[in-house]
Amino acid sequence: MRKINLFDTTLRDGEQSPGVNLNVKEKLEIAKQLEKLGMDVIEAGFPATSKGDLLAVQEIAKTVKNSSVTGLARSVKGDIDAAWEALKYAEEPRLHVFLATSPIHREYKLKKTKDQVISTAVDSVKYAAQFFPIIQWSAEDACRTELPYLAEIVEQVIEAGAHVINIPDTVGYITPKEYGEIFTYLRENVKGIDNIILSAHCHDDLGMAVANSLSAIEHGAGQIEGTINGIGERAGNAALEEVAVALHIRSDYYKAKTGLYLKETKRSSDLISNLTGMAVPGNKAVVGKNAFAHESGIHQDGVLKEKTTYEIISPDLVGVSTNSMVLGKHSGRHAFKNRLQELGYEISDEEVNKLFVAFKELTEKKKEISDDDLKALLIEEKVSS
Ligand code: KIV
Ligand code: ZN
Repeated sequence: MRKINLFDTTLRDGEQSPGVNLNVKEKLEIAKQLEKLGMDVIEAGFPATSKGDLLAVQEIAKTVKNSSVTGLARSVKGDIDAAWEALKYAEEPRLHVFLATSPIHREYKLKKTKDQVISTAVDSVKYAAQFFPIIQWSAEDACRTELPYLAEIVEQVIEAGAHVINIPDTVGYITPKEYGEIFTYLRENVKGIDNIILSAHCHDDLGMAVANSLSAIEHGAGQIEGTINGIGERAGNAALEEVAVALHIRSDYYKAKTGLYLKETKRSSDLISNLTGMAVPGNKAVVGKNAFAHESGIHQDGVLKEKTTYEIISPDLVGVSTNSMVLGKHSGRHAFKNRLQELGYEISDEEVNKLFVAFKELTEKKKEISDDDLKALLIEEKVSS
């Protein structure tokens, strides 16, 4: 089984979600939970952006010992100096330095030629190598970059001393097949690529961030970047809990695993949702409120007979105590009777049949029937426990 490193950027790209603003104490609390979850790398912030960010990265670097801590820097000395100021306390200081490579970014944002972009990237890696034992270099907007040029710049930054090469889909534009092909192309055309780790960093603008990340793994990526709950710039980043659980459940297919303690997944999701104020949609994979809830009578009946009929992930795997049978208009007699028994009512089949008619009538007026609704129904129908 190949081990895939997970690089969590909840505190950097995740904090770039519109409306999210975490203070130092909150960032530290999240970082400690990410360490407990077993993240390999935690990107704690972007030290050059503000004093607060520098301080937060510094605190996290001093505190977290079981995950590697990193911070982001543009390809300028000032950013790299700020990152060193924050990260020098880390057990294994790691820099994440980036520069845009696509024609759109070169022409309109950087106003640099191809050669100037290469020399800026190489100089930044060489400068950082004086301080940092581990350097990750990212080609911002890599997926809209000419492939031969991407290969050329990647080869040069590896030669300059980069240890991890990240291929971000900055604008969430690529498809899984195309993303995989970029990794294959680089592996076949870049000298020195076998000695470094290739990393994937996907945004979700077209809803393909997790699929693209998994495709990268199939094509040789050794590190996946993302956030918990998939929060992040615009439509967000790849949700790391989804990547990790997909690898776990489909290990037969991917033949790869992460080092996450999956039982800490739900706790991490809840904490991040509470502190960022970003609610998790009910139907979100792995951590949504409905991820382990069954509503239809056919599904409820199946799950009550054998869980795996409709449940491919055991709730316990990700730290959710139990699945749930939501009683509503699609529910059947089996789930209805089962819930009454859980509430302590032992009722004859004849009475259940009578009550079930009343229950169905109630579902015409109410979407979800609570335990209190059921108890009221029993009182109305004069059934005692
Ligand atoms: O999406 C992106 O390109 C980034 C880089 C800074 C790695 O977040
Ligand atoms: Zn990003």
